[in-house]
Amino acid sequence: MTTIAVFVGSLRRDSFNKALARNIERLLPEGVEFRYADLDLPLYDQDLDANLPEKVVALKKLVAESDGVLFVTPEYNRSFSGVIKNAIDWASRPWGQSSFAGKPAAIAGASIGALGTTQAQSQLRNVLLFLDMKVMGQPELYFNASAGLDGNGDVAPESKDFLQGFVDALVAHVRGEK
Ligand code: FNR
Repeated sequence: MTTIAVFVGSLRRDSFNKALARNIERLLPEGVEFRYADLDLPLYDQDLDANLPEKVVALKKLVAESDGVLFVTPEYNRSFSGVIKNAIDWASRPWGQSSFAGKPAAIAGASIGALGTTQAQSQLRNVLLFLDMKVMGQPELYFNASAGLDGNGDVAPESKDFLQGFVDALVAHVRGEK
C-alpha cells in the first residue's frame, strides 16, 4: 500500500480545498490511499518543542508513516494559509527531527479568484524546498473552484482528465518512479 498524507489548509466546513482533495482521492488507483492530517492544531510555541502536544505527535507519526505528502492550500492574501504554515512549523521540530526531509511532496490549491493559488503555491514550494522535501514540479494544479465545482462539490466532467493527469504524476512521484 502506498500512503499519502494530505494537508488541507482550510478548516472551513464547506472548503473548496477539501472538495478538491476528495475529488483527487476518488481518482487514486488501487493500492494508494490518502490519510488526512488533522491540522486544527494549537499555535506553534517553541517552549513546547521538548514536549510536543499530542496532536502534533500524531501529525509527525502520520508523516513518518506516509510515502509522501500532498499539500492542498487556499490562497490567503497572496500566500498559503496559516493553517498550513502552523502545521509545517510544528512538524519541522524539534530541531534535527523534522518530519519532512527527503519526503516526496506535491502541491495543489483551489481558490475563487481568477489568478487561482499561484502565489500561495509558489511561496509554499520555497518552504518545502528549504525543508528538503522532493517537490513535484509538474503538472501544476491551480483549481478555480467557482468554475470547476458543481453544487455537490464534484469536479466538472471536463476537468476530470486534467485531474487524472495530476493524480498519475503524484502517484509516480511518491513511488519514486518519476
Ligand atoms: C481569501 N481569498 C483569496 N483568494 C485568492 O485567490 N487570493 C487571495 O489572496 C485571497 N485572499 C483571501 C484572504 C482571506 C483571509 C480569505 C478568507 C480568503 C478567497 C479564497 O480563495 C476563498 O475564500 C476560498 O474559498 C478559500 O478556500 P476554502 O476555504 O474554500 O478551501
